[in-house]
Amino acid sequence: MKKSTFVVLGMLLIMLGMMAFSLNGPRAKVPVYLVKKDSAASVAAFKQVYTVLMSPRCMNCHPSGNVPLQGDDSHPHTMLPKRGVDGKGVYAMKCMNCHQPTNTPGLHMPPGNPKWHLPPANMKMVFQGRTAPQLAKQLIDPKQNGNKDLQKLIAHADDELVLAGWNPGEGRTLPPMSHAAFKKAWTTWLTTGAFAPSGK
Ligand code: HEC
Ligand code: HEC
Repeated sequence: MKKSTFVVLGMLLIMLGMMAFSLNGPRAKVPVYLVKKDSAASVAAFKQVYTVLMSPRCMNCHPSGNVPLQGDDSHPHTMLPKRGVDGKGVYAMKCMNCHQPTNTPGLHMPPGNPKWHLPPANMKMVFQGRTAPQLAKQLIDPKQNGNKDLQKLIAHADDELVLAGWNPGEGRTLPPMSHAAFKKAWTTWLTTGAFAPSGK
């Protein structure tokens, strides 16, 4: 074969590839996770999810103000460290000054994680004070959840700060169900249509 034939064949292959890509493109965007819309199953799953989100292990980092909360009664953090722009504290009171990469042993010692911080000032992701319908809508709103699509939201069940809730350090109660049960309810809620409970 002549060299020019190869060039033409090559170009044809590239075009075919591009066509296949453009056909697949939009289809690939449909969330493969969406099993089947089912508002009853979705709402039931969210009600379970909500009990975890509102438990102190989660809510203490998702306060309505700019100071984290502490303890099983979610009182304001002693010495009032502030959120700061990036959620990591302000100049003299950085979270990581006290919160180490792992839990500090002992009662009333700071829990630890390499990423220990609050959501940033421009995306506060507040749980405290939100009703179940409010929180369900907020969590799936990309403008309020840090631009997370369905896939990212599902993956967030295994985020290290979420997992930290089940490794809270001495003397702190665990969230009201296991991480596996939470992950199942969270995934079910999202893959059945992410319906919010009715009401305000
Ligand atoms: C040490 C503080 C901390 C703890 C504890 C914590 N979070 Fe978060 N959470 C964050 C930060 C910071 C972000 C923002 C990170 C991001 O967007 O990737 C976040 C984001 C989220 C989001 C995504 C944003 C949204 O509103 O949709 C969810 C969901 C979430 N957390 C759930 C939980 C759950 C469930 C627990 C408890 C099991 C928990 N968090 C415990 C700090 C924390
Ligand atoms: C001066 C030290 C110090 C600084 C700075 C600090 N913390 Fe703490 N933090 C602690 C201690 C100590 C505890 C444990 C208190 C207890 O259990 O009585 C704690 C507990 C917490 C808890 C409660 C955990 C739970 O599961 O109930 C959260 C949430 C928290 N801190 C977030 C933060 C964030 C976010 C920052 C930065 C904005 C921060 N802290 C800055 C010392 C500090």
